[in-house]
Amino acid sequence: MYNKINPENINLSTELPVQEPERQYYFIARCQKWAEGFEEKNCRRPRACVVNMGCQMNARDSEKLAGILESAGYILTEGEEEADFVIYNTCTVRDNANQKVYGRLGHLNSLKKRNPSLKVALCGCMMQEPSALEKIRKSYSFVDLIFGTHNIYKFGELLYGMLEAEGMVVDIWQDTDQIVENLPVERKYPFKSGINIMFGCNNFCSYCIVPYVRGRERSRKPEDILSEIKALVAEGVIEVMLLGQNVNSYGKNLENPISFAQLLGEIEKIEGLQRIRFMTSHPKDLSDGLIQVMKESKKICRHLHLPLQSGSTRILSAMNRRYTKEQYLALVEKIRREIPDIAITTDIIVGFPGEQPEDVDETIDVVRKAKYDNAFTFIYSKRTGTPAAAMENQTPEETVKEGFGRLLKVVQETAREQISRLEGQTLEALVEEVNQQDGSLLTGRLSNNTIVHFQGDQSLIGQIVPVCLKECHGFYYLGEIARE
Ligand code: 5AD
Ligand code: SF4
Repeated sequence: MYNKINPENINLSTELPVQEPERQYYFIARCQKWAEGFEEKNCRRPRACVVNMGCQMNARDSEKLAGILESAGYILTEGEEEADFVIYNTCTVRDNANQKVYGRLGHLNSLKKRNPSLKVALCGCMMQEPSALEKIRKSYSFVDLIFGTHNIYKFGELLYGMLEAEGMVVDIWQDTDQIVENLPVERKYPFKSGINIMFGCNNFCSYCIVPYVRGRERSRKPEDILSEIKALVAEGVIEVMLLGQNVNSYGKNLENPISFAQLLGEIEKIEGLQRIRFMTSHPKDLSDGLIQVMKESKKICRHLHLPLQSGSTRILSAMNRRYTKEQYLALVEKIRREIPDIAITTDIIVGFPGEQPEDVDETIDVVRKAKYDNAFTFIYSKRTGTPAAAMENQTPEETVKEGFGRLLKVVQETAREQISRLEGQTLEALVEEVNQQDGSLLTGRLSNNTIVHFQGDQSLIGQIVPVCLKECHGFYYLGEIARE
């Protein structure tokens, strides 16, 4: 575990520390004492289950929650049924994410009726939404702890507060400028890790709730990022994924400004680190400097996630994306010219207010021209409080469905065509896990993010091996380890 805390070293008889992270270490040690009491009574340690419901940023936050729970004396478990503490790290980017939480809370309520000592916590983006919070307070009053995205670093303190309190503990902040370093983190994979380089977003795309629930853009200091990566590499990590809502504007608000391209240059120098990924890139901020650094790098993976959202300049303007169809296509062309083996993926929304079939035609045109390896397609979801939610020309469901179906077909055709171009080549894959469907196969990831399944020994997990790509199956390959 990164930044493991030994509670034995923390003096609980001194005054409560004011500084972070010392204050959190203090509360984590207090939770440990509670866990010792639990163990004496129940002849086992308490069990905690962390459920991640969101994007890669949320997944990284969930690793932080898990790290704090482990330091606090809990054993982590996958199953909610056997847990003494369940925490949902929620998402709210589309309404169906909220609906999923309400559904699963119903199940937790029945578990809690069978086991009244079960504690339930909710955190993450959905908790920052006043209407969702209100509904949970009223209709799901069995929830024990609620906190948001800005005070996640205080989880140790909040957990202790919950263990001591009767009734629901709620702590939601509207914003923060604080970034607390050096808290414990429990990683899902020993050989790869997400790294937050920045938090929040300043773009205010008109459909998006993220700037409201994640707050303003804040970059971590480069020295903190570099020392975190160095420590991870010393623990055996060979691939990092740099995370931010808009990594291309990294560093602009730091006391000593530095660009994302410069940060990448520094990370490249870390010995032992083999692969660097990042997401997400906003097309309006993608610099020539970044393209150059990617081109020259031996470590930056040949993959760029470049959300399009729409191919219609009219809709892009209403979305407040600040680029046109032509500018986007020119950018893709420039990237492909400089880095020919790059895979580009994207996000697309169908059904934004006012969208007509002709706008979807424009999006389909970009999909064909940009030659995406994959595109994540979403149906527009109205998010209360965003400018788009107040627009009067919401698109009828039938039109949305029709456009979505047409787009999906082209996305699938183009992706298959693009991915199948690699057939017969031997490329390096980082072996990530045993295949979830077929236990005789391993699953690896190419530099360009394509997945390949192949036969091999489990001892290869965490290593980079050459794999011959035999058969393309749409979005993935079946392959064979290449003999030297
Ligand atoms: N409706 C549908 N999709 C959305 N996204 C963001 N907000 C919405 C919304 N209101 C999509 C965007 C973004 C991805 C993470 O989620 O495509 O890139
Ligand atoms: Fe949302 Fe736009 Fe920020 Fe992405 S860049 S998080 S879509 S507001």
